[in-house]
Amino acid sequence: MNLISVTDEEELSRTAAEILFAKIKSADRLVFGLPTGNTPLGMYRYLSKYSNEYKQSYQHVYTVNLDEYAGSETYHNYMEKHFFQNIDIPSEHTHLPNGKADNLEDECVRYEGLISKLGGIDVQVLGIGENGHIGFNEPGTNFDARTHVVKLTPSTLQANAKYFTNEEQPTEAITMGIGTILESKEILLLAAGERKARAVMELLKGSLNEEIPATALTMHPNVTVLADQGARMLLD
Ligand code: F6R
Repeated sequence: MNLISVTDEEELSRTAAEILFAKIKSADRLVFGLPTGNTPLGMYRYLSKYSNEYKQSYQHVYTVNLDEYAGSETYHNYMEKHFFQNIDIPSEHTHLPNGKADNLEDECVRYEGLISKLGGIDVQVLGIGENGHIGFNEPGTNFDARTHVVKLTPSTLQANAKYFTNEEQPTEAITMGIGTILESKEILLLAAGERKARAVMELLKGSLNEEIPATALTMHPNVTVLADQGARMLLD
């Protein structure tokens, strides 16, 4: 596992965007797996800015997001607002699980099929939960799991309550499974702030533990962890 150490959230955002932008510039076609949340906001801001500043088209980019709340379009709206509306990516290239599908189990099967049809994920960007979750794979999730419906833990619900000022916060979500995530060709995990220090320490310590879902990444051959000072606080 590769660790890139940066000072703060600003440098983390810029570095993450530079890594992805270099790939956007050089590839003919790219499939990105993308997270929502607080951590990648700056990365989306920089990627939007670079597209404009360098007149770089994103029309050859495809995206599949990690997760969406059941019965909600919260993360669809987030992606539109913070990234998609700022760039020229065709809307038919952007994908998130449909949390409003009549049958969520069928939607999970459709989403897995969609990822395969796209030829898999070239670069999966991840955030990390305080409890070590990746996507919405909460502690105890099987490392082989495919896209599935999850019941969110109280700590995850609390951390994300800010997204639900106008609607009731759903307690379930659809998430790519850890098995799905591990099939990505490359993984870039972003961790900022002291609240993530324990999860980052467990991840970099390198022993598999289903109670800390991110430790599954130690099984993947091409993972880069981009962590700021706060998130590295418990490493020696
Ligand atoms: C969101 C996601 C989550 C977040 C994690 C960290 O799509 O997959 O795993 O990455 O909850 O969230 P923030 O960045 O808000 O601390």
